[in-house]
Amino acid sequence: MVRPLSIGDLIVDPPLVLGPMAGTTNRVYRLLCRRGGAGLVCSEMVSINGIFQRNDRTFRMMRTFEGEHPVSMQLFGSEPEIMRDAAPAAVEAGGDVVDINMGCSVPKVRRNDAGVALMGMPKRAAALTAAAVEACRVPVTVKIRAGLTADDDSYVDVARRLQDAGASALAIHARSACQAFRGEADWRHIRRVVEALDIPVIGNGDVTEAHDAPRMMRETGCDAVMIARGAWGRPWFFRQAEAALRGGSIPAAPGPAGRLGVALLHAQMLVIEIDEPMALHQMRAQMHHYVHGLPWARRFRSDANQVSTLDALRELVEQYLADLRADGGGALEADPAAMVAREESQ
Ligand SMILES: Cc1cc2nc3c(=O)[nH]c(=O)nc-3n(C[C@H](O)[C@H](O)[C@H](O)COP(=O)(O)O)c2cc1C
Repeated sequence: MVRPLSIGDLIVDPPLVLGPMAGTTNRVYRLLCRRGGAGLVCSEMVSINGIFQRNDRTFRMMRTFEGEHPVSMQLFGSEPEIMRDAAPAAVEAGGDVVDINMGCSVPKVRRNDAGVALMGMPKRAAALTAAAVEACRVPVTVKIRAGLTADDDSYVDVARRLQDAGASALAIHARSACQAFRGEADWRHIRRVVEALDIPVIGNGDVTEAHDAPRMMRETGCDAVMIARGAWGRPWFFRQAEAALRGGSIPAAPGPAGRLGVALLHAQMLVIEIDEPMALHQMRAQMHHYVHGLPWARRFRSDANQVSTLDALRELVEQYLADLRADGGGALEADPAAMVAREESQ
């Protein structure tokens, strides 16, 4: 029996969250992931300074689609006074939740005392959280990491302070800042935070197979699971993870035609959002993910890198699917082990 996640008054069902990813989780991808079964989707991180300065590009990043709610608007910055202005603007733009980034380890963000730098400044971190909580009428959550270094266990104390500052839930990426994205996430950090807090905890790190979701919940006691890279090129993954949570049989992933159909929809929607060359440029990385494990993925990726119009991408996909059919490639796709082996050999 899986319980929905409650963040303040907001019910997140299923308790599966698309993690924030700069460069990926724009409103197009968020909508695809909601359709693919995510209970809550997170925006890319948005600068509170950009909001404060009423920067057009920043406000464009905060646009939402009707069908993607509930959506969590993730903000980064370090000044409580600026947060007081930015958090209500993020709600006005469509945020059902305001999330504060205290996990980003990119130097440009850290240097400005934002992102994971805040974990080394617990007073500032708590003040920033309290400012958001006081300023807006939706629940405020915070996303942290498991400390600054591998042996820094102060994250449990930071987590408690954020709870005391009024956070309604906390997400923890179970890697330290030093690790960035390297090595394995150590889910014991999630368990420690779950044991220390009364508010819901969202576990994050290395959920890439459907059964990882119930395993993370079982092993850590977390209230919800956040999936970031595991959703790259497969927005339907949430439906599979939900089935695993409910103990049912896992629906098969779409075949090559289905996958690439979603990829084309993704590209078409992006072209409506931003200009065509930019959209196609952004889609390169996404196309790489959509063909993960498929035959001739390397050739497809290299061809996709040359494409700069939607028509050309459509032609490339049609040709690729025709080649697959001619080769009887559909049969290969039914064997997951063969798919993994093929991907590793490329
Ligand atoms: C390309 C990329 C961009 C990311 N951008 C953000 C971000 O804007 N805000 C944030 O809190 N985390 C960001 N993350 C971290 C993810 O949300 C997540 O914590 C991390 O990838 C571990 O989860 P996973 O194993 O499910 O991918 C990013 C990760 C990647 C790979």
